[in-house]
Amino acid sequence: MNYKLKVEPMGVEVNCDEDETLLDALLREEIKVKNVCRSGRCGMCKCLVTSGEVDHGDAGSDTLTEPEREEGYALLCTATPLTDVEIEVEESVF
Ligand code: FES
Repeated sequence: MNYKLKVEPMGVEVNCDEDETLLDALLREEIKVKNVCRSGRCGMCKCLVTSGEVDHGDAGSDTLTEPEREEGYALLCTATPLTDVEIEVEESVF
């Protein structure tokens, strides 16, 4: 199943497969966002899910705390979409 992933503040929309992490979908489309470990440990890829639902996958509980999950934060490198999703990210300067 393929979902739409809308990314702010860039205002772009990409497709994201249900088995694909949000980070992989963004990098596939050459949208540069902060990331380091790509395994749910460093927290550099933290984003805010403003609409829709994600599966947090292997996000570490120290890296993405329960209160953060309840506020709508997710890790791009571990989250996969359960619905169409809108997120806010920090653009990478690298
Ligand atoms: S890149 Fe490190 S937690 Fe996502």
